[in-house]
Amino acid sequence: MDSSRLNIHLLSDIQSSPTPFHAVSVMSRLLLEQGFKRLQEQDDWGKLDGHYFVTRNASSIIAFQTTPEDIENNGIHLAGAHTDSPCLKVKPNPVINKQGYVQLGVEVYGGALLNPWFDRDLSLAGRVTFRNKDGAIQSVLIDFQRSVAVIPSLAIHLDPNANQKRSINAQTDIVPVLLQQDKDEKKDFHLILQDQIQAQHGNISVDKVLDYELSLYDAQAPSVIGLHEDFISGARLDNLLSCFIGLRAFLDADTGPASLLVCNDHEEVGSISSSGAQGPFLRSVLQRLAGPGEQLSRLIDRSMMVSCDNAHGIHPNYSHRHDSNHGPMLNKGPVIKINANQRYASNSETGAYFRQLCEETNVPVQDFVMRNDMRCGSTIGPITAAEIGVKTVDVGIPQLAMHSIRETCGSRDTFYLYRVLRHYFSTVC
Ligand code: CO
Repeated sequence: MDSSRLNIHLLSDIQSSPTPFHAVSVMSRLLLEQGFKRLQEQDDWGKLDGHYFVTRNASSIIAFQTTPEDIENNGIHLAGAHTDSPCLKVKPNPVINKQGYVQLGVEVYGGALLNPWFDRDLSLAGRVTFRNKDGAIQSVLIDFQRSVAVIPSLAIHLDPNANQKRSINAQTDIVPVLLQQDKDEKKDFHLILQDQIQAQHGNISVDKVLDYELSLYDAQAPSVIGLHEDFISGARLDNLLSCFIGLRAFLDADTGPASLLVCNDHEEVGSISSSGAQGPFLRSVLQRLAGPGEQLSRLIDRSMMVSCDNAHGIHPNYSHRHDSNHGPMLNKGPVIKINANQRYASNSETGAYFRQLCEETNVPVQDFVMRNDMRCGSTIGPITAAEIGVKTVDVGIPQLAMHSIRETCGSRDTFYLYRVLRHYFSTVC
């Protein structure tokens, strides 16, 4: 796969993935197309020999390929990323009638940068759970795709100090407008969802919508931008970029050691959930791969994890927010993230190993350390390392505007990350 084809795939995969549910669905389809077999956690997996994947909550996914000899003699090359991104989620009783507008009450998911949500074309997607005509409870994914809502700014004439002092109240200021209506009748949101299910999944019979998890998202497609096409701009680059580049590298790797890709939901809210990195999903899969007794501990000690999550690239207008020796630049390769207080899991051995992988694939590599006078973020790396006990390095390609509704990264870094991960999956520990 060359660089421009990789980016074309990446943009289309991200656009098809407005929510973690959709991301897992797209990844599942790509795996099935490559001959991977879908496992269910409730089944007996028997002897595992080949290519498999398993999902949990339809929002986290683990894909792996292995042979019994691999498990016996070698370790597993693991890589991880997260499927979720900060966004606005629709509340259970969302409909608000105000000044002739119908608005949707939303809850902020994760550490969203709220300013950029104003005046964007917003669409709506997620999982809807309903009772079908046979009385069974069933879930489907929906995606309106077109722009169905907007959060209008307040004009500067009505707030003359807006450019100096405007702050955002997440309860009252970011309530999206869905439509206008003359009479003050309450719209039935469940019926709107029922119509959408019918429009998208015509053959499904819905008796009653019972519940949902829906997010608003930027309807503008991701794109390659810049006079010389240096950048990729799009929603959810943190961290669908790592999920999809990780998956392509995993699928395109030469037959090497056993390899595994895990993409967890709920990283943006701390990872504590049944499908999050601090839940038991990965351990449970590794346990089933390793077999009984001390096998799991032995397997983990022979294995390694590359945790991929985007890093903060240095911003030309705010370069003082970086340590002067640790300002990763876009298009200068993946970044190794280091934190003395273990907010990142990298250590000298895992870092050195990743540097060597980069050297072997001619990929430049950079370092990130947070300034001492600023709080350092974290990611799934240290959480997975603490849960499983696996040696881990935290890496990621640099980006600007993290957690904005649209983020920017380097158009050449995607191929760097792909090359080094493909090499990692192809190389014996
Ligand atoms: Co992230």
